[in-house]
Amino acid sequence: MVHLAPKALQHRKGTFTDVPPELLKEVKNLESQFYVNGDKLREIVDHFVGELDKGLSKEGGNIPMIPGWVMEYPTGKETGDYLAIDLGGTNLRVVLVRLGGNRDFDTTQCKFQLPDHLRTGKSEDLWVFIAECLKNFVDEVFPDGCKETLPLGFTFSYPASQEKINQGILQRWTKGWSIDGVEGKDVVPMLQEAIEKVGVSIDVVALINDTTGTLVASMYTDPEAKLGLIFGTGVNGAYFDVVKDIPKLEGKCPQDILPDSPMAINCEYGSFDNEKLILPRTKYDVRIDEESPRRGQQTFEKMNSGYYLGEILRFILLELAEEKHLIFKGQDLTNLKKPFIMDTSFPSKIEEDPFENLSEVAELFESKLGITTTVPERKVIRKIAELVGERSARLSVCGIAAICKKRGYKTAHCAADGSVYNKYPGFKIRAAKSLRDIFQWGDDIKQDPIVIVPAEDGSGVGAAIIAALTEKRLKDGKSVGLKNA
Ligand code: BGC
Repeated sequence: MVHLAPKALQHRKGTFTDVPPELLKEVKNLESQFYVNGDKLREIVDHFVGELDKGLSKEGGNIPMIPGWVMEYPTGKETGDYLAIDLGGTNLRVVLVRLGGNRDFDTTQCKFQLPDHLRTGKSEDLWVFIAECLKNFVDEVFPDGCKETLPLGFTFSYPASQEKINQGILQRWTKGWSIDGVEGKDVVPMLQEAIEKVGVSIDVVALINDTTGTLVASMYTDPEAKLGLIFGTGVNGAYFDVVKDIPKLEGKCPQDILPDSPMAINCEYGSFDNEKLILPRTKYDVRIDEESPRRGQQTFEKMNSGYYLGEILRFILLELAEEKHLIFKGQDLTNLKKPFIMDTSFPSKIEEDPFENLSEVAELFESKLGITTTVPERKVIRKIAELVGERSARLSVCGIAAICKKRGYKTAHCAADGSVYNKYPGFKIRAAKSLRDIFQWGDDIKQDPIVIVPAEDGSGVGAAIIAALTEKRLKDGKSVGLKNA
């Protein structure tokens, strides 16, 4: 059997013989809480399929299943200069995309770090910050000025309802963001107004979810691409459905949007199982939710996205140290008690440490947390990071499996992006293995039929292509939204 991804994780060196029995018992207990076996994965996927359907129904469900008003596939012949911005979890990326018309493109880009206070600050500050970054960028790439208004594709990676493509009514902030006065409102006019204030000639043509951008950008170069996925600070997926199979659109589309028209769907499946019926939540997941600014929401995301992995690890370590007195005895735990002090780079580095005595873990805990660790403690820390990381990968692919089952895809390239997919050690291997566990492909299969592949740049190229497709539709007098939107 040949797989696109290696079959097993590298074998870790070292044994647990030097770990005290009481601590070992805790590790075993954690293992049983965090390992999700194949049967449970399949159960989750079946429930997931039903929830995707509910999201498309007139009554609606927990998963928003937002029609994205992208109604054709890219041809590769799109041309022109487009700006794209991506307001992600941690950065603002500004990109100038030159679509060449022959499935080719050029990009020039700049990343601006989002100051921490913006995530929870005032709405106006956020839009002005973005508009100023845009102006700086445009001044730099067009030093002699730009004669025409630049069309912009705005990648907004939060659940936003869209009655038309240049609209995004924020349903709720996710990934730790919490800015008053934006939820329930359309973010496009807010950005457009700020753009006008700073005096730069840009027209926000389309608002795009990062998963939809990923899907479209990947379809541009890979005809087998069927899903666009983000495994990063947040998790989500997009795919193309067909208008007549989306009951909630029945009777609401203008005549030129035909029943057989494709329609990109931004699933927003981070909210899967907000009813808490199927996911194997631990007390650490319950605590993550209780301490989050949006309780009860993004249940699935809170168990597997990058934003929470370090925090889950921190809760477990704190419990072992503070309540159970099994690790870090006599040490100052002040830093470990700080929420979110361990971002995803923490478990990532812990899993990556190549040394048998885990000296890099020792250095990390010493420098970032002021905690001196023993070798057995470090082995336990690594084991816990593996449990959290592996559960993340195994749960993550349930979204993929559910979409493929729903659409009846027997083969698919699932185009993925995001910090966890790109950087978290072992994620790709674990995810591929979990898909095999779910679909139980026989050993006679030469290659996994459904594979996760690296995506094209969704929030840059994808947003630009979608902006181009939108401009073309508008030029042809076609609709880009609901009747009367
Ligand atoms: C957001 C989605 C986004 C995903 C990945 C989630 O928190 O709700 O809109 O696609 O993160 O960035």
